[in-house]
Amino acid sequence: MLMNYTIAVIAGDGVGVEIVPQALRVLETVGSRFGHTFDFKHVLMGGCALDVTGSPLPQETIDACLASDGVLLGAVGGPKWDNVPSDLRPESGLLTLRSAMGLYANIRPAILFEPLKSASPLRADIVDQGIDMVIVRELTGGIYFGKRGRIIGEGDSEGSVEAYDTECYSEEEVRRIANVAFQTAMIRGKKLTSIDKANVLESSRLWREVTHEVAQDYPEVEVGDMLVDNAAMQLVRNPSQFDVILANNIFGDILSDEAAMITGSIGMLGSASMGDTKRGLFEPIHGSAPDIAQRDIANPIATILSAAMMLKYSFGLFEESASIERAVDAVLAAGIRTCDIQDGSTTETVGTNQMGESICKAIETQR
Ligand code: IPM
Ligand code: MG
Repeated sequence: MLMNYTIAVIAGDGVGVEIVPQALRVLETVGSRFGHTFDFKHVLMGGCALDVTGSPLPQETIDACLASDGVLLGAVGGPKWDNVPSDLRPESGLLTLRSAMGLYANIRPAILFEPLKSASPLRADIVDQGIDMVIVRELTGGIYFGKRGRIIGEGDSEGSVEAYDTECYSEEEVRRIANVAFQTAMIRGKKLTSIDKANVLESSRLWREVTHEVAQDYPEVEVGDMLVDNAAMQLVRNPSQFDVILANNIFGDILSDEAAMITGSIGMLGSASMGDTKRGLFEPIHGSAPDIAQRDIANPIATILSAAMMLKYSFGLFEESASIERAVDAVLAAGIRTCDIQDGSTTETVGTNQMGESICKAIETQR
């Protein structure tokens, strides 16, 4: 059936403006091959939005995202905005958007692409066990959104400054993200590792209690708890033990960077942020990489695979999504690489633009 989808597009800052157009041309190519049309609504968020409108997240952007079928994001932030007040930081735009769209579930696959094995910083005997996991990160609660502030001392401690951030989770918040993680485990390897710091934090003890309660509804899933410090260690010691990792906002943030790095392909991994509806936000795991911006060298694959996730998660276009994934595989298998994923088998080093073009060609010519 011919369908039309409206996609809110936020290129953002840094390499965002280079990689997002490559994902859009891939979507166009998929659209013409399968007979769908995508209507792109370009909107501002991040440092570029702050420069133009005085806000990192203009209301117009929130409205466009809420009116869309899905949101594609590049990346936000950069040194230019390091010293702006905290509520005007590019990152605060992203946090507000996640919250405004109710996107409490962040789904971050970390997979080892077979042709890129040697790009992993881990020893070959560890990598050979395989890396294929999904991190399900709570995205709209915890310390990111808890009460924070500064207390200026009075009396004896006159002038001294204290700062605090609060980690707070309700049972309901834990339950809904745990359900997403268990459902994810059910369609994968049926193994779930829940991350916490229950030996120290009360919020983690609640997290553990509620997760165990939810586990009762998924008797087929093998579930274990792991302290976050141990998890950081296990990820480099034996990553093949993980299938689905469930984590709160901050632990998930930290572990997902680590998980992405050990696959050797931080420029390759996409992510989905979902709430209770099908409308999601899709973005690469990597950041705005200002150091390599405007040089046509950034790897657009993470954003292209994020677009593939949008087709699958938000639009239910499974075949179309798979055609992008297959095209990426084909291009890698042909030895075509951007400079961040060089290995012994590279036959051709290409720039951002040419990588996008190669993937489009692969989609056009695949059977
Ligand atoms: C991420 C990023 C963001 C986060 C920043 C940019 C606010 O690190 O998406 O992982 O911490 O959530
Ligand atoms: Mg992060």
